[in-house]
Amino acid sequence: MLILGIESSCDETGAALYDTEKGLLSEALHSQIDMHRLYGGVVPELASRDHIRRAISLIDTVMEKAHKTRKDLDAIAVTEGPGLAGALLVGTSVAHAIGLALDIPVIGIHHMEGHLLSPMLASDKPTFPFVALLVSGGHTQLMEVQALGQYKLLGETLDDAAGEAFDKTAQALGECYPGGPVVSRFAELGRSGVIELPRPLIHAPNFDFSFSGLKTAVMNAIRNAENPQDPQFKYDLARGFVDSVTDVLVTKSIKALKKTRCKNLVVAGGVSANKQLRASLEKSCRRIGAKVFFPPSNLCTDNGAMIAVAAAAHLKDIQSAQNTKSTATGFQIKPRWTLNTATE
Ligand code: KG4
Ligand code: ZN
Repeated sequence: MLILGIESSCDETGAALYDTEKGLLSEALHSQIDMHRLYGGVVPELASRDHIRRAISLIDTVMEKAHKTRKDLDAIAVTEGPGLAGALLVGTSVAHAIGLALDIPVIGIHHMEGHLLSPMLASDKPTFPFVALLVSGGHTQLMEVQALGQYKLLGETLDDAAGEAFDKTAQALGECYPGGPVVSRFAELGRSGVIELPRPLIHAPNFDFSFSGLKTAVMNAIRNAENPQDPQFKYDLARGFVDSVTDVLVTKSIKALKKTRCKNLVVAGGVSANKQLRASLEKSCRRIGAKVFFPPSNLCTDNGAMIAVAAAAHLKDIQSAQNTKSTATGFQIKPRWTLNTATE
């Protein structure tokens, strides 16, 4: 089956073509980062308008790249939520319009389920059951995943998400949004242990996270610095920050693996692109005889491929996709939608 995946929940318009036999055929992405950077964060109305401008041409691009036409499509997968309402409406409108025109099913996908299943796009694919660490700009969650659609939340952030903490740290250092890539780059040049930052909730008897205190600690370090503009200070602070986030995420993930007796850990979402986090998780998992799986580096942040692969995973279980068919009665978006109810 040939599935077109469409993602438009935030500031990236993504399209991809996924073949259930051959895998990912093509993928295209437009990032709105340069447009939002001027404002220090995502401006929802501008995001929606830009998705309108990009969606159709990105879909045409993935068709051309894979030498396919719309008539070859068997299904369309689209992010139904969570995300910015206006942005979600663009992707879902386009998906359902094409679905109606071609009389093919349209499958609404939970954005975080897309991230969670994105390691299925890598050559080394995870098998169920696994523990999932989802670390993005809006979420930090640990899940126990017994099978497709069985997502049990073990713990999540009580305040800022891990990606949000990267973004706020970059902002405090006078750097651009999004902060993940720049803070990671700085951290690689910094020295471990020069600036020690707290590891919030690391020893708490649960799987919850808290990153807002870490952001405050970063700001205090900048306030108390002799020369906050000194590049080496910035690198050392970034290193202290990444060490702290990595330590917390790794410790809790290992604890979750031990508690659930799972041998597989899946790590996904924008922060999973961080090299230091990847290396530390690999080392710690190896030590306890577990294995960690990541999405391909270029598919850690939002993209259409993860939405298509999630739909492909569900299609295997759906005998007839007819019940997901687009109808003239309309469609829905779910700007607020928790993943444990993804299959409801
Ligand atoms: O998954 P994603 O693209 O969007 C959401 O669903 O939120 O994640 C975006 C987040 C941003 O906060 C960004 O700063 C962070 O992922 N990020 C990174 C890296 N690349 C992106 N964080 C740490 N290291 C990176 N290399
Ligand atoms: Zn995302």
